[in-house]
Amino acid sequence: MEFDRHRRLRSSAAMRRLVREHRWTPDDLVYPMFVQEGLSGKEEIASMPGVYHLGLDAFRREVEEVSELGLPGILLFGIPLEKDEHSTSAYAEHGIVQEAVRAAKAINPDLLVMTDVCLCQYNPAGHCGIVQDGKIVNDPSLKLIAETALSHAAAGADVVAPSDMMDGRVAAIRALLDEHGYVDTTILSYAVKYASAFYGPFREAAHSSPAFGDRRTYQMDPANVREALREAASDLAEGADMLMVKPALSYMDVTKSIRDNFDVPVSTYNVSAEYSMVKAAANHGWIDERGIVTEMLTSFKRAGADFIFTYHAKDAARWYKEEG
Ligand code: PBG
Repeated sequence: MEFDRHRRLRSSAAMRRLVREHRWTPDDLVYPMFVQEGLSGKEEIASMPGVYHLGLDAFRREVEEVSELGLPGILLFGIPLEKDEHSTSAYAEHGIVQEAVRAAKAINPDLLVMTDVCLCQYNPAGHCGIVQDGKIVNDPSLKLIAETALSHAAAGADVVAPSDMMDGRVAAIRALLDEHGYVDTTILSYAVKYASAFYGPFREAAHSSPAFGDRRTYQMDPANVREALREAASDLAEGADMLMVKPALSYMDVTKSIRDNFDVPVSTYNVSAEYSMVKAAANHGWIDERGIVTEMLTSFKRAGADFIFTYHAKDAARWYKEEG
């Protein structure tokens, strides 16, 4: 017979395991968490079933859970009590993220604590930089962003992750960290962050929707991929240790390009609407949640991500354990 027998290599579970090219494990997953100042207990985020606003006590319990599940790290977002135009609570010594970092490290010093470094949750304009005359101004924002990263490092964060998309922020952060002796604090830059509709549920969760305009003068146009290479190159030249592509699902070609062009660790962020779409359909009984999520995680690995930020991390770690 004159044809190839591709099915031989799919003929049994053992054969499929043997020839499998890509796989994820819980080691690849980072769990994003929302800590809210002044909250006691926790409140489910309506648009993200299964994800919570956490008061510090509830946060501590979740850190224990994440640790028991064996996840390598968490990513922290803060929801402050007060917003002001200087984003003061973003870099306050006893701000909610800074306190959460200390709490997490006290519970489990081995857990990698990563922090989202941004201003949008902390100022009334809801923009990721400083607003002057209706514009988001780049250079004056850098100082506050670097101060925010420094305050996270001082609280004990292992990794700071700037998500603001201002130019020059990695250089500004690296310089300030080094100046204060935090030479080991790692910078994971959200180098390739698109102006995406997939952040909708997050903005509800983080109370960080822009009060005017949108984020298109700083986040990337979803149509562009060569531009992603320029963003990544700049951030690496400025001192980034690791890169992120965000969102994940609609941007796997971008993850692949970044993977092929750079040799640093690359992550992707399976963002809020990607999570909520799955949850909504699963709650209707329309899809097999476990099948969908595990296939997505495998696809992110295939696209070249070394690790993945996902709200599914705890479930995925549980499923992985169950399968043994
Ligand atoms: C803050 C930030 C956003 C997300 C992470 N950091 C929202 C935004 O840029 O509007 C999105 C995360 C998600 O949707 O899960 N700059």
